[in-house]
Amino acid sequence: MAGRLEGKVAVVTGAGSGIGEGTVEAFVAEGANVIAADISGAQDALAQRLGDGCVGIQADVTKAQDVEAMLQAALDTFGRLDIIYNNAGIDGHVAPTGEYPVEEFDRVWAVNGRGVFLGLRYGIPILLANGGGSIINTASMAAELAFPGMTAYCASKGAVQMMTRNAAAEYAGRGIRVNAILPGAIRTAITDSLPPELIQGVKDATPVGRYGTPAEIASLAVYLASDESQFVTGASLLIDGGYSLT
Ligand code: NAI
Repeated sequence: MAGRLEGKVAVVTGAGSGIGEGTVEAFVAEGANVIAADISGAQDALAQRLGDGCVGIQADVTKAQDVEAMLQAALDTFGRLDIIYNNAGIDGHVAPTGEYPVEEFDRVWAVNGRGVFLGLRYGIPILLANGGGSIINTASMAAELAFPGMTAYCASKGAVQMMTRNAAAEYAGRGIRVNAILPGAIRTAITDSLPPELIQGVKDATPVGRYGTPAEIASLAVYLASDESQFVTGASLLIDGGYSLT
């Protein structure tokens, strides 16, 4: 079934790699026009590959002016904005809380926490002016489960979950839905950068017995972005191969 996002315009952050890249591909395949935003520069090759339906923009989600420019690019390029996917994130160093480098905590928070807040802060007024829309935030199963050594990451993802719920409650009556995706272990640059024993342990404890793929997360993002999910807001949708069951 193609065309589920026909006529809609989306901004996706962290679009240069992994889940963001897979979601931009899926959004364009479903008929959306997409601003693909990333700090890395990799968004430009993606946009080139996908053609007219996708435009790349370099943006650091920790910077308010970059976030505003990235959202404005949707209006300037495609004339409207319906979908915001706040997906950019980093994992940070792995160390016990009592030894966690303070500056590293700030770095993780800046991208995963502040970055999502800025997407909401500057995106919501545009969606309100547009008559509504759908916001999706990538949290993690680490919003709900402890992963020893990853206190900054877990705390930031818990915050994403609560920002999602708050914004959903505030704007449900005004046409804006806000939902969080909580992925389990998805094979991307992030999982490849973690200590092998940590990520192998998560994979081994995943009942379906494998990593998830960016395309599987993208399928859920398409559903949340589309009008099929009109009654879904404030939800934290786990997509973890059953990891959190055990
Ligand atoms: P990835 O490393 O493949 O992609 C993340 C992208 O975010 C990169 O292209 C990177 O350049 C970009 N980025 C980093 N800092 C940025 C900044 N300040 N401004 C703009 N872009 C920035 O990783 P992946 O796995 O695709 O991660 C996407 C999201 O999924 C993250 O929020 C991550 O925490 C979350 N997640 C990933 C899981 C996994 O197992 N891969 C599990 C649960 C959540």
